[in-house]
Formats: sequence, structure tokens, C-alpha cells
Amino acid sequence: MNPLVFALPGNESFAQGIARSLGADLGRLEMRHFPDGESLVRLATNPGGRGVVIACTLHRPDAKLMALLLAADAARQLGATSVGLAAPYLAYMRQDARFRAGEAISAATHASVLSSHFDWLVTVDPHLHRYHALAELFRIPAAVVPAAPLLAEWIVANVELPLLIGPDEESRQWVDAIAEQAKAPALTLEKTRLDDRRVRIAVPDLSGWREHTPIVVDDIISTGGTQIQVLGALADRGARPPICLAVHAVFAEWALWGLLEAGAARLVTTNTIPHGTNAIDVAPAVGAACRAMLDAAARPVRRVS
Ligand code: R5P
Repeated sequence: MNPLVFALPGNESFAQGIARSLGADLGRLEMRHFPDGESLVRLATNPGGRGVVIACTLHRPDAKLMALLLAADAARQLGATSVGLAAPYLAYMRQDARFRAGEAISAATHASVLSSHFDWLVTVDPHLHRYHALAELFRIPAAVVPAAPLLAEWIVANVELPLLIGPDEESRQWVDAIAEQAKAPALTLEKTRLDDRRVRIAVPDLSGWREHTPIVVDDIISTGGTQIQVLGALADRGARPPICLAVHAVFAEWALWGLLEAGAARLVTTNTIPHGTNAIDVAPAVGAACRAMLDAAARPVRRVS
């Protein structure tokens, strides 16, 4: 039987892309809230005997997690052969340490909860910093779909003379990989984070790059603080209006307005989070990774006697 893909509300179009790519059927998931705010989830398509993928991107995760866990448990109780999560954006990855005494390490707790309810996970470029691989956090198989080849493809097709700019040391390896695939030059800047919203950025002399279009590449645009500071620093150095390119369009608070105000020529993101700036489709790649996970989950486990 074909696998079944269920979409949590807001993930319908991404779920369709995944289902198309992995040759799965779309299941019908109904959800509503009781007057007291509690969630009711119903799988209107029977998942019995089928591999199940639940599609739910996890930005603004607190509002989604309970329904997601209810859906996963329902699928399992109704006889799904395996229950996987396709979460193109994985939340809580940046709180990967106790930065001040007493703080919760959210990345670990979040991973532990998901590991208890799903058999496997597929995501796109999770923000890995102090943890180097998802296997350090998750107790289930977790596959990462890299967005870099798709970003490089977009650059080659859309920008004539690009100069890739990574806002901080953390982005260097990633930006260099995109630059190599796009055959474009790349620079990495120095970023100092001052608090949740403010960062300081140092930009080198750019006089050799006047003809190039700067593309500020980052994994996440959240408050936009990082990219806004980079745009200001690039303008001070006389650079052309830059393109802001990111994998995850979190766009918290006034980020979009701030970036346009700071002189972004264009904002481009992938569809890991639905947003008006989405121009790069990662669903087929996520679908292919889900297919590999479903196949692995369906393989009988060899027992060593
Ligand atoms: C940080 O390490 C990340 O790679 C991003 O640079 C950061 O999360 C972007 O956040 P914001 O848009 O709030 O500056």
C-alpha cells in the first residue's frame, strides 16, 4: 500500500509536494479546538497498515506541538506501520546550551519529546551549532536535507555577478559550499551578538567587488537583526543593494519591514516555512528523504541470536 501523508493545518501545500515526490497518498486530518482551547485531532483517512508521514513545519512551535503529538499517537494506535515527521523547519535549535544559569536547554527537550512520538524525522538544514549532528539530540533516525544545492541553483539562474556574503563565522562552511556550487566568490563577516535582537557586524573593504551583487546568505531570518546590520554595513561600504537569501523564513516581529527599510533589493527564501518570499521549493528533496526513511522503517530488523 502507498504511504500516507497527513498535513497539520498550514502544511497542506508542502504535504502535497512531499506526497507527489514519494508517490504517497494524501490523508485527511481534521482538527479543531474546544472552547477551552484544547485540541481535537482526527485522522479521517485510516492509516492502518501503511507508513505514515506527518508534515508539520515547526516555526512558532508551542502552538503546534500538542496537535502534532496527538496526530502521531493516533496514527500509531490506528495501525500505521511507522510514523515519521517531515518538519522542514525544526524549532528550538538555537537554545542548545544554558547561556545563563537556570535556563532550560530547549533543543534537547524538544528533541526528546519528538523522539518519543515519532519513528523517524526529516528536516532541512537544522541550526546545528554546539550539537554537531541530529543524532546527538534525537533518539530516532533523523535525516537532514541540505538546501545548499537548491540555493546555488537559484543563484546561478537569477543573479549575473553574485558575491556571497556570510554574516558570521558559523555560516562560513555553509556559504563556501554554496559559493563553490554556484562558482561565485564568497566573504565571511564578523558578527558579535549583543542580545536577542541586536548584533554588531564588521565588513571588510569591498572596493574590489563594486560590480557584484551582494547576496547575504543565512540559514534563518528571524528578527532580521543580523541581515539588517549586514545591509547597513554593506551600504556604508558602497555596495550595490543586496539580495537577502535564507533557508528558513521565520520573519519574527517586524523583520520583513526592517529588511526592506534597510535597503534589501530582494528577499528570497525556501518554502520550509510558508511566506511571501518563498522562491525555492524544497518539498521534492524532503519527499525523497522521506521515501528513504519509509523504506528503512519497512525493512525487517535482523535479529542477532
Ligand atoms: C545565528 O546563528 C543564525 O545563523 C542566524 O544568523 C540568526 O538566527 C538570525 O537571527 P536574526 O534574524 O534574529 O538576527
